[in-house]
Amino acid sequence: MAESIHVPLSALLPGAGARETLPASSLGELQGGLTFYIETFGCQMNEHDSEKVAGVLVRRGYRQVASPDEARLVFYNTCSIREKAAQKVFSRLGEFNPKNNFGRDSGKRIGVLGCVAQQEGEQIFERAPWVSLVCGSASYRKLPLLLARLEAGERRVTGLETDTDETFETELTRRDHPFRAYLTIIEGCDKACAYCVVPQTRGPERSRASDSVLREVQELAEVGYTEIQLLGQTVNSYRDPSNRHLTFSELLLAVAETPGIRRVRFMTSHPRDLGSDIVEAIDASPALCDHVHLPVQAGSTRVLRAMQRTYTREEYLEKISLIRRARRPISITTDFIVGFPGETERDFEETLSLLDLAQFDGAFSFQYSPRPHTPAAAMAEAVPESEKLQRLQVLQERQRAIQWQRNQRLRGQVFEVLVEGASRRETQWTGRTSSNRVLNFTSSRTDLLGEYLRVRVTGAGPNSLTGEENSE
Ligand code: 5AD
Ligand code: SF4
Repeated sequence: MAESIHVPLSALLPGAGARETLPASSLGELQGGLTFYIETFGCQMNEHDSEKVAGVLVRRGYRQVASPDEARLVFYNTCSIREKAAQKVFSRLGEFNPKNNFGRDSGKRIGVLGCVAQQEGEQIFERAPWVSLVCGSASYRKLPLLLARLEAGERRVTGLETDTDETFETELTRRDHPFRAYLTIIEGCDKACAYCVVPQTRGPERSRASDSVLREVQELAEVGYTEIQLLGQTVNSYRDPSNRHLTFSELLLAVAETPGIRRVRFMTSHPRDLGSDIVEAIDASPALCDHVHLPVQAGSTRVLRAMQRTYTREEYLEKISLIRRARRPISITTDFIVGFPGETERDFEETLSLLDLAQFDGAFSFQYSPRPHTPAAAMAEAVPESEKLQRLQVLQERQRAIQWQRNQRLRGQVFEVLVEGASRRETQWTGRTSSNRVLNFTSSRTDLLGEYLRVRVTGAGPNSLTGEENSE
């Protein structure tokens, strides 16, 4: 993927230079050049946090490299949503165990960021004493300070507070995607789903002021981004802390009206905070993509209650009807957890029947994974692993059939796609529809990356469509 550096206009304005001084760093002097490598695990929020962290590092004079071998500073931005994700990090860290490197200090500094950092805290130093920095996402504003301390030769630095009421905004965000810009509008989470580590690892909910969001959107449009993806764990719970008090749907409309912006997406929505105003906004503004990601997690009210999801099966289905009543078709995707403690075969049947009723356009599904310090971790009636796996397979197979059927109905229709990639064959391209479907298509033209084209659907599978450029 092509890389681009986005420098906000504010960084180029007079006065901004004062914050740009790059202190001569002992780490850099010792090691002949400041290079960093960052690998990201987990969700788009993490992906985007890494872009911002990279911006902080670039601002301090570091240069990004493509492999940990070349880097002086190696950062892992970690995910702990499920146990497997968290384990991955420790296997990465194991690669730097000095014992395996014949006791030589490679001069590298290793940093652990994100949710595992927040959750494990200083215990990371016990498990991997060669780590130098541990910092959770709610403390990223302190990163420049922590880096300065590392550069000055401190061996271990931490940023682990979650009581901050600030959001992480940087003067320089090093964005990885050439056309789509991620932008966090709300950080943390105030919901208390019984299975979820996010409220612990990302701290309390805090929204970013609407004028600051809109200023950045304008800057992004000016440097050529055409798609904006607004991010938040519960993005639609957005509450403007400024005097303007924009609602989430008003903010959506304002972002969509920014000249140069052609597509606006938002992820992830919580069912409880999805009101008709959001659907009306999508109906009113073609730039707002016709897609809502609305995790349901389970189809049985009994399980939803145990999960503390704050809605019933019926209330969720009511939200689905609200979205389906829109004037233009809006695709709906969701998340499921199977095998939550106490989930019976009958509860699972209700999940399957909800699948049939809701007719999702896509679904991510996971086996329940107990997480430390969550209410669900202490619940009795664990579902056996083999049963969880079997339920997962049944659910995925059923959903696959639904998607296939829904996608088949799109044959013959023409959609606008944003071209995101080329395949090895020169005439093959891949793009996304506004409804977030992947559409692989042929066109005899070249240089289509980043273009918006009209494509006719000629074939459909469960996970993607095929088509050809519409020449009419
Ligand atoms: N076990 C399994 N899946 C989980 N998710 C969140 N916490 C857990 C857990 N403990 C899933 C939910 C959420 C998605 C991002 O990850 O479905 O929507
Ligand atoms: Fe986790 Fe629930 Fe918050 Fe989503 S809404 S981040 S699942 S606690």
